[in-house]
Amino acid sequence: MNLPALSILVLHGPNLNLLGLREPGIYGSLTLAEINRLLNSKAMELQTQILPVQSNHEGVLVDAIHGALGYHQGIVINAGAYTHTSVALRDAIAAVNLPTVEVHLSNIYGREDFRHHSYIAPVVIGQISGFGAQSYLLGLQALVSYLRK
Ligand code: DQA
Repeated sequence: MNLPALSILVLHGPNLNLLGLREPGIYGSLTLAEINRLLNSKAMELQTQILPVQSNHEGVLVDAIHGALGYHQGIVINAGAYTHTSVALRDAIAAVNLPTVEVHLSNIYGREDFRHHSYIAPVVIGQISGFGAQSYLLGLQALVSYLRK
């Protein structure tokens, strides 16, 4: 069966370019390139396309969210530390009004208090936290099934 084509923007925030090297006990040993490869295979399985983008800069992430309008039907975002600080990212997600899933490799609620609050949680359709690279795959799957409902 041919499903309608969907394109999903996958946004990786600050320090996620160092995955593999960065605190592997918390974030796992996979590199960002390996996670993107897993996401691509999952996307093919789901008959979907993804565009992965990583930036360490808040404004670049805001621009990428704005740029999704007209090109992508939804967003999977791991905003990294900006999750806990960025009103600008939250406002960008609310502004474009594209269904968005928030993902985290680690369980942010099992860590330091400052990680327990997410500025973006109120403007996303759901959040997946704590399953390592699987969080991204589960997030993509949840978003695609939401969009096809
Ligand atoms: C993270 C959790 C954040 O608290 C942290 O700042 C990150 C990664 C995660 O994927 O577990 O950079 O978003």
